[in-house]
Amino acid sequence: MNKKERKGILLSGGLGSRLFPITKGLSKQLMPIYDKPMVYFPLSVLMLAGIRDIALITNPENIGLYKKVLEDGSQWGINLTYLSQPSPDGIAQAYILAEDFLKGSTSALILGDNLFYGDKLSDLLIKANNNEHGATIFGYRVSNPSEYGVIRYGENENIALEIQEKPAKPPSNYAVSGLYFFDNDVCEKAKNLKPSKRGELEITCLLNSYLRDHNLNVINMGRGYTWLDTGTHESLLDAGNFVRTIQKRQGLHIGSPDEISYQKGWIDKEQLIKRANLFDKTSYGKYLEQISLDF
Ligand code: G1P
Repeated sequence: MNKKERKGILLSGGLGSRLFPITKGLSKQLMPIYDKPMVYFPLSVLMLAGIRDIALITNPENIGLYKKVLEDGSQWGINLTYLSQPSPDGIAQAYILAEDFLKGSTSALILGDNLFYGDKLSDLLIKANNNEHGATIFGYRVSNPSEYGVIRYGENENIALEIQEKPAKPPSNYAVSGLYFFDNDVCEKAKNLKPSKRGELEITCLLNSYLRDHNLNVINMGRGYTWLDTGTHESLLDAGNFVRTIQKRQGLHIGSPDEISYQKGWIDKEQLIKRANLFDKTSYGKYLEQISLDF
């Protein structure tokens, strides 16, 4: 029997209240990061991992907007499904909402406001995709760990003992980034979680249940990688400036589902040119046209 392909979940829920008033009328993950909607960046990460069947979870009132921006995915040779999250009750709730979509497949969950960048990122992602056992998370050193899930290590940084959610006294500087790979036990585990004090099904509790089963694999992303989240005005601007700086310097784009799908052979030249023509007034459109000529 063929091994089931891993499926993706892109969580784009929440009220975006830390970005008010700009998110009063528009979903946070559709805000621009320089020249692309935020959601392009995490979607690109799932695609780089080789994942082609992806559910986007968002508030019921935003589903129409996401469909307008991302369509059904066929323009990128992927399949996009839209699931509704009636109330934002925690990241782990995604696994209750997505149970029917997953149908027992392994999965990767990414938060819609996370941006990852770095040399050989796809190798790291493909490695995580190929590991079917347990859960895999990515640790990343930050200067403000209290704002994240934080890893408490054992005698060295290969052994995680516990994940603490937004601790006042962080046990390390390593935050758990918003990208998680899970085996097919995850829906059952999510259903057994109890809401935390703030009333949410915490991703951290889910990870700790894998840890207790000795089934949590931690990959630390070294300093050559970039992990940004974009949940505040300042971090949103920082991310936009970062993308602009790198793109301008290298002439290569970050977070382009069009480029990734073409490189992976999921769409052909004709399809890429069709996309380039759609955006022909922008440097993004010109970039896609250039790629179609180069390869
Ligand atoms: C969430 C998680 C946290 C994780 C972070 C990554 O926090 O609860 O463990 O480190 O995402 O972006 P939130 O963004 O909901 O505050």
